[in-house]
Amino acid sequence: MALEDNHNWTDGLGLKELADDVLYEVDVTLKNLPYDRKYKPSKLLPALNWIERQTHTRTNHAQMLVGLREGLFLREFVRRTFSGRVLEIGTFTGYSLACLADGSRSCTAGGVASQPFWDQQFRAERSVDVYVDAIEINKELDYIIEEGLQRAGVAELVKVHYGDALEILPSIAEEYDLVFIDADKRQYPKYYELVKPIVRSGGYILADNVTWYGRTSSHTDAKSSGISSFNSLVESDSGVESHLVDIRDGLLVIRCK
Ligand SMILES: C[S@@+](CC[C@H](N)C(=O)[O-])C[C@H]1O[C@@H](n2cnc3c(N)ncnc32)[C@H](O)[C@@H]1O
Repeated sequence: MALEDNHNWTDGLGLKELADDVLYEVDVTLKNLPYDRKYKPSKLLPALNWIERQTHTRTNHAQMLVGLREGLFLREFVRRTFSGRVLEIGTFTGYSLACLADGSRSCTAGGVASQPFWDQQFRAERSVDVYVDAIEINKELDYIIEEGLQRAGVAELVKVHYGDALEILPSIAEEYDLVFIDADKRQYPKYYELVKPIVRSGGYILADNVTWYGRTSSHTDAKSSGISSFNSLVESDSGVESHLVDIRDGLLVIRCK
């Protein structure tokens, strides 16, 4: 079964059910991938392989990539929630960005054409634009990001802003359906405060690495403390609901009320 075949919408689903459903679908897809000749995001997978290889060859930090399971989770979560307007904080070589952008493409007219009737009606009612913004402080790897996005066929949807997210975020005037946070762990609480005003009501914030290798309760270094403060901030925020997805190093899915 391919991800595209089971596209449905999210109304009425609790956050946990939604996340569980998306993860289940991703796992079934991954299991069947070797046998599935019709898997539709055909440009995405070769592009992700290329980005991964380049990252291993040209950097010492390939462990920072979200990897295929989480990448496909991001892609499918964006599709399910019709998140046409996406922001990523922390792009590195563009692996997760390619996944997010490929997911948001289903919100374009072309992406909707093959969807069932109720999806088209939903889109028409909301008339959501598609734009995917990304913020990355390190410009040295921009050539990998650019070619990766080209190979994935999503370059025209994406704009990468090079600079410090803490400086760029306050000047953003857009509204987003979904923001993915995956930059400096020490700054997670500040990203959260800056991002909340630009996420629409009912929109999502996804934050990576929130279990931080189990160190949040036992370590007091700046990164562990940053993640720990972020987790407390979200937990005490009555304006959101959240659910921890057991994928890689913990992905926190937050829905803004
Ligand atoms: C974990 S990596 C991102 C991995 C990427 N999301 C992926 O899976 O393909 C974190 C990235 O955040 C960037 N970063 C760190 N601090 C930042 C800041 N203040 N503003 C923007 N980017 C930042 C780093 O340069 C690094 O490339």
